Amino acid sequence: MNDVRPLNIPVILGTSRKGRASVHAAKLLADLLNRRAGVRSGVVDIASLPLPVDDAGEAIKQAAYSEAISAADGLVIVAPEYNHSFPGLLKHTLDSCLNEYIHKAVGLVGVSAGPFAGIRVVQSLLPVMRELGLVTIFWDINIGQVGKVFAEDGRLLDDAFVRRSDRFIRELIWMSKVLRYGREQVTIDEEAAEIAKKVPCPNCGTLMTHHADKVVPAAATSENDVVIAAARAWSGA
Ligand SMILES: Cc1cc2nc3c(=O)[nH]c(=O)nc-3n(C[C@H](O)[C@H](O)[C@H](O)COP(=O)(O)O)c2cc1C
Repeated sequence: MNDVRPLNIPVILGTSRKGRASVHAAKLLADLLNRRAGVRSGVVDIASLPLPVDDAGEAIKQAAYSEAISAADGLVIVAPEYNHSFPGLLKHTLDSCLNEYIHKAVGLVGVSAGPFAGIRVVQSLLPVMRELGLVTIFWDINIGQVGKVFAEDGRLLDDAFVRRSDRFIRELIWMSKVLRYGREQVTIDEEAAEIAKKVPCPNCGTLMTHHADKVVPAAATSENDVVIAAARAWSGA
């Protein structure tokens, strides 16, 4: 896995609210990622996407967002807690793509004014990530009482944030590397691995053994049929 290509890990800023404090966390995380060797990052601001609200899903896909996600190896989502969940516009934006996310790593950052540190927004996002085909890492960043962590002008008031983000970033880089290797080198169908022909991914053009799509498993083998028949006989079905 000695890949010299930089890992691309953009940070999605998940709110369009004027005066949003989450922007400080998003910018700092992009900066911290850019300081890591072999990693590049930037902020994808959902407020800058002209998403229509009279439709939903892939019908309103924006080229800029789709290209940013296609080119990503991993993602950070910075989401403020609004009424114990994520902002509606973040979900509307996430819903506008699908294949672009599949088999990519994601790290979640919850931001709240209250004391629960955005834990509830992270919990609410987990099933959404799974359905999109993203793979969550096991560290989150939880920023509670955000006014004590960042000043209004974005100055960091609490250095512990940088120390705590270290393990999150290291895990996200590792998962992004592993999943990039997997997307490009490992086929879902083990038996077909040796004969699998690489095809260009329709989204990013990279040659892959299976492209960024939910892969339909190979047709059941006769061995599977034997196992199913045995299971039916055993259960009396
Ligand atoms: C519509 C809305 C709902 C909110 N609900 C919560 C909440 O449930 N819990 C909480 O701790 N803070 C809540 N907040 C405060 C945000 O967490 C706070 O604004 C924080 O700075 C992060 O959001 P921001 O990036 O928009 O500033 C809410 C804010 C808005 C605008």
